[in-house]
Amino acid sequence: MSYKNWTKKIDSDGICWLHLDVVDSSSNILRSDVLDELNDILNGFAQELPAGIIFVSDKDNGFIAGADINEFTEITTEEQASKILSRGHDIMNRIESLSCTTLAMINGYCLGGGMELALACTYRIMCDNKSTRVGLPEIKLGIHPGYGGTVRSIQKAGPMAAMNAMLTGRALQGRAAKRMGLVDDLVPERQLKRAARYFVINKPPQKTLGLKDRIMNHSFIRPFIAGQMRKQLAKKARKEHYPAPWKLIDLWQSHMDNPRRMLQKEIESVSSLVTDGTAKNLVRVFFLQEALKSQGNKKDFKPTHIHVIGGGVMGGDIAAWCALQGFRVTVQDQNPEALAGTMKRSMTMFKKKFKKDRRAIRDSMDRLIPDTRGIGVARADLIIEAIFEDRDVKQSVYKDIEPRMKKGAILATNTSSIPLEDLATCLEKPDRLVGIHFFNPVALMPLVEIVRGENTSDETMKQSLAFGRQIGKLPLPVKSSPGFLVNRILMPYLMEAVEMVGEGIAPEMIDRAALDFGMPMGPIELADTVGLDVCKSVAIILSDGKTLNLPKKMKAMVDNGKLGKKTGEGFYKWRKGKAIKDKKASYGNMQELQDRMILRFLNEATACKREQVVEGDDLIDAGIIFGTGFAPFRGGPLHYIQHQGVSELNSRLNQLKDRYGERFNSDEAWGSL
Ligand code: NAI
Repeated sequence: MSYKNWTKKIDSDGICWLHLDVVDSSSNILRSDVLDELNDILNGFAQELPAGIIFVSDKDNGFIAGADINEFTEITTEEQASKILSRGHDIMNRIESLSCTTLAMINGYCLGGGMELALACTYRIMCDNKSTRVGLPEIKLGIHPGYGGTVRSIQKAGPMAAMNAMLTGRALQGRAAKRMGLVDDLVPERQLKRAARYFVINKPPQKTLGLKDRIMNHSFIRPFIAGQMRKQLAKKARKEHYPAPWKLIDLWQSHMDNPRRMLQKEIESVSSLVTDGTAKNLVRVFFLQEALKSQGNKKDFKPTHIHVIGGGVMGGDIAAWCALQGFRVTVQDQNPEALAGTMKRSMTMFKKKFKKDRRAIRDSMDRLIPDTRGIGVARADLIIEAIFEDRDVKQSVYKDIEPRMKKGAILATNTSSIPLEDLATCLEKPDRLVGIHFFNPVALMPLVEIVRGENTSDETMKQSLAFGRQIGKLPLPVKSSPGFLVNRILMPYLMEAVEMVGEGIAPEMIDRAALDFGMPMGPIELADTVGLDVCKSVAIILSDGKTLNLPKKMKAMVDNGKLGKKTGEGFYKWRKGKAIKDKKASYGNMQELQDRMILRFLNEATACKREQVVEGDDLIDAGIIFGTGFAPFRGGPLHYIQHQGVSELNSRLNQLKDRYGERFNSDEAWGSL
């Protein structure tokens, strides 16, 4: 019998090599039809069992990437979820209980359901290369492993390592996976097949858990360890916002003594999670991320040399980031000390990224060349300007470099606020000027705004979006308008928070109200971190003709040199990089604090929709989530408005307008939501 997705090949030793090549999909995923066929194949093995079974991928990009997330979105009830999960469990259990040896030969990514299938096999061997990784990343989608992976990963790797892998959802490289016991061996690609055959024929003893792991798994000890895990988790994820990791810890604590029961409970737990709002919204965020990735096609631009002008906070980090991604980079600054600072910070960034891999660190350093005279200008395919935020200074640099630029090279500015149209007036070829707006800190922020000015050509946009992908960022095309998308949305929210401090409300309470909503950091702490001088100048630009007024409190603090973290004092006092907070602070009406900030945030998002700062609601939500950290489990601001009810939120906005004035005027776009 032949199958669409699977091919059986029996070798001279009687071993069945079960090849997977999922049709109509670029990677192997455990779609329903793939599982149905596997079920059928397993039925066949009941009649005629081979000497051993080796699972192997015919795709060149990986083993199995996981379950089909599209099918995930179609689940609406717990019963439906339970049925789907039970079928998966049944298949994994049958693989596990086959009386012949089974092995997963892992080459490339092996994640989620794919890893759960591998864990059900007798052995797992993994190719020793950088692109091969294993992991259980379900937590990122608001669930935890649901095809038996919770039980089997703990049985193989012990509770600490396995729970850590599941709670973080990290993709593990070979050495880490082997050390943990998740895989049995790590072999070079050329020896993979031979090693697989060796394992199936010789059946080397399987590793068992050591004494420490067995103690940790004991019912007396588990409550204590689970308590520690909850304590750590509470610092990162609230139960009401992200229930999955909490449920995972409960599952292990309550049922590890009885693996069969734990398997059953795993189905129940994932069934309840999968239909919950958080999982639905995190799946939405996954697709939004894919939508951002698809904005740029890496093939559209082939730069080899990047020249960065300005080696300050942003330029220095942009240069280092581009070198880290494999580009040859020259970095120019009028101030040699700034360049020395760039090289020092770059070394720190490379060491953090490559840890002990000295060769990778050295190669990255070799690619990054300080260039006081700007020799790189004539060689670069892309020039990124990140000098002082001053139109005249920027233009004088453009006039100087344009005649020396290579034919077809792009000139990108990192400006936060100067309209591209104003900057372009001095250029012979304004069509090749684009904004590539990075966020601070460059290494941590996933989004880059690709700003189209009035004159920017389609080709320049296309190539800049491609570049965004090439440096591993999520590129968002935005219209050239004040604050673009991210700063524009953030500012009214920050300014409302500052306004409240001016009214005498404790910053701690304001920050807590934002954290309760699900923001990653409170607005007052954020303003202190970014620098109050920076916030002030962005606010002034945005206030031009808009409803954004600069709170008096902010002006006073900047005038007094209290700029936040960098000066040791802003709204908070700062010690060793941490804000000192008053734990006793309190406030009676937290809901109102939250409404004042969040409704202004949402109101600005609707204004951006009306002005088409970004094309399409989904891209607005995507940009805001990845640019501001807006509570991912809420699925994005426009999605949140729909979900909460347009008229309900709008009427709350109107009540605030009655109490606090015009800045709460609801944007006319609410009518079209
Ligand atoms: P910075 O003041 O840290 O660095 C600017 C650097 O440019 C200095 O090292 C200076 O010596 C150099 N420079 C000035 N004129 C020059 C010239 N004619 N030739 C060569 N080098 C010159 O400034 P920062 O914060 O890095 O900002 C740079 C740009 O990035 C600005 O346009 C700013 O709006 C934008 N930006 C800043 C963000 C931030 O968080 N600081 C975030 C996003 C964008």
